[in-house]
Amino acid sequence: MGYANTETEWGTIAKTLHWLIAGLILLQLCIGWVLFAEVLPPRTQVRLILSAHVPIGITILGLAVIRVLWRFGNAHPPMPNMTWWERFLARASHAYLYIGAVAMPLTGWTATNAFGTPVKWFGGIELPRITAKEAVLAPRPLTTLFSEAHFWIAAGLTVFILLHVAGALRHHFSQKDNVLVRMAPAGWLKPR
Ligand code: HEM
Ligand code: HEM
Repeated sequence: MGYANTETEWGTIAKTLHWLIAGLILLQLCIGWVLFAEVLPPRTQVRLILSAHVPIGITILGLAVIRVLWRFGNAHPPMPNMTWWERFLARASHAYLYIGAVAMPLTGWTATNAFGTPVKWFGGIELPRITAKEAVLAPRPLTTLFSEAHFWIAAGLTVFILLHVAGALRHHFSQKDNVLVRMAPAGWLKPR
């Protein structure tokens, strides 16, 4: 297996990016929903957002942009034989997962800047401001608008990830095809 994709296999770059982004997004959703549930003391909440959630989210943005460019500028294995509705569901969820991986960090970044807080990556590196503090768009504060977008896109992402994982398990255990095998690290699963 080479680093690039072929007409029949995912290469190491696509697989590494898939699993790295998948792990980080699952981590972000866990952190995010814990923040949303407000079970932690307020100071811990703020520290968790500033020191973990934000820099991890920015890392996902960088990786997701590379992943999308790599996916659409490279060969890729075809979908297996499926009915029209399975193909439609797979295409729609993959599109949502790619868009969500970019839209989540961008809405978080914009909402944070509109609230007046600079967005910093690991090591305190400050990122450019997307918008001014307390910017207002069509009478609503931008921070509210983008916080709500962040919430709803995350809710959709949670649903589509559940669907995506169920689909992957169904391919593997029920349809017994190579869809999970070809995305798994080389040698982890036996080809069918
Ligand atoms: C893929 C990346 C990300 C995922 C999956 C994610 C997910 C979530 C989730 C599920 C929540 C709780 C629901 C909510 O209150 O909206 C949340 C809250 C939050 N996220 Fe993210 N997030 C990501 C990236 C970011 C980034 C890059 C920033 C800032 C630069 C950010 C800033 C925030 C803030 C400030 C909150 C809590 C306040 C609020 O908006 O209500 N997030 N995130
Ligand atoms: C943790 C459990 C996960 C499993 C078991 C899993 C499994 C898979 C498998 C088997 C494929 C290959 C489909 C094919 O070859 O046709 C795939 C593709 C994909 N996965 Fe996941 N995945 C997981 C999590 C995630 C997460 C959290 C994301 C969120 C961004 C994600 C995003 C994608 C995307 C966008 C593709 C489409 C690749 C393409 O055709 O361009 N996956 N996944």
